[in-house]
Amino acid sequence: MTSPSTNITLSEFCEVNYKGSDSYDGLEKVIYAVATGAQELEREIRNGNLLGMLGSTGNVNVQGEIVQHLDALSSDTFVKQLKDSTRVAMVGCEEIEHPVTFGDSEQHNYIVLMDPLDGSSNIDVAVSIGSIFGIWKRKNSKPLNPESLLRPGVEQIAAAYVVYGSCTVLVVATKGTVNEFTMNPADGNFYLTSANITYPNKTPYYSVNDGNTAKWVNGIVQAVDDLREGRSQRYIGSLVADFHRNLLKGGVFLYTADTKNTVGRLRLMYEANPLGYVSVQAGGAVSDGVMDILDIQPFELHQRVPLIIGDKRLVNQIIKTIKNS
Ligand code: AHG
Ligand code: MN
Ligand code: MN
Repeated sequence: MTSPSTNITLSEFCEVNYKGSDSYDGLEKVIYAVATGAQELEREIRNGNLLGMLGSTGNVNVQGEIVQHLDALSSDTFVKQLKDSTRVAMVGCEEIEHPVTFGDSEQHNYIVLMDPLDGSSNIDVAVSIGSIFGIWKRKNSKPLNPESLLRPGVEQIAAAYVVYGSCTVLVVATKGTVNEFTMNPADGNFYLTSANITYPNKTPYYSVNDGNTAKWVNGIVQAVDDLREGRSQRYIGSLVADFHRNLLKGGVFLYTADTKNTVGRLRLMYEANPLGYVSVQAGGAVSDGVMDILDIQPFELHQRVPLIIGDKRLVNQIIKTIKNS
């Protein structure tokens, strides 16, 4: 459910809610960095085909996946913006093998984990893509090292994502509140369009790649059969866009482990954790089928995880079916 839209800008919202507050000291600068990066990328994405920005770079990333031009550009864009924010100590990024350290002064008090371009397979075909960010407060008492960002999702202080879709939206969550801002193409600014978002009561949608059916264990086959009853399947293939639709309209997304993706396909630190945080703040849930994903102690920046995310009743229904199978 959402409340009516307003003409409050993202800057005004951040000034009121974060600036000068003890809990969110400097968070506005991190959010502006995300918003500025999204503005830059939005232009590239809209002109992608015309500027020759589509297609692959010919390189393979740390996940063994082919790197698209926009994967590389988005990574560079957000790394620069987050560095320039002067508030981010360290970044972990899907496209970069090791964490990148920006600085360890007292004001470098945030750690950001990001998937700069989610939905790479949709870049070349004019379908929604996005960017995902998990934001942790740095532990100032400890010196920075590559393990500094291996923190459970429950310790996030904020999370944000962008969907470059039929319009471009930025969603920002902090404890207990999820807010959506929409970019006005005329001035490039983000305006608050939905405040205090919570999942609706109805659950018309479920999102799953059912091309994987033959690789699922029986419990998942049964859980998806149950979801089919009275619901429509919607699967974009960009997690962030599927998640956003299910958040606003009601539903659940699952990408569980299977015989090919034995530990799941999606990434814990910069896909499951940030979106899981948003889901929980909106009254939903996130699980790997056994435990709350936000409680997982990570061991590796790029580790994968089975993901069930969305409406709380549906997430619990799926967990129950897996347990009883
Ligand atoms: P990315 O583009 O960051 O690598 O992420 C792609 C992910 C996710 O967005 C999507 O839900 C999933 O891959 C789709 O996987 P399948 O093509 O196997 O369905
Ligand atoms: Mn992704
Ligand atoms: Mn990506």
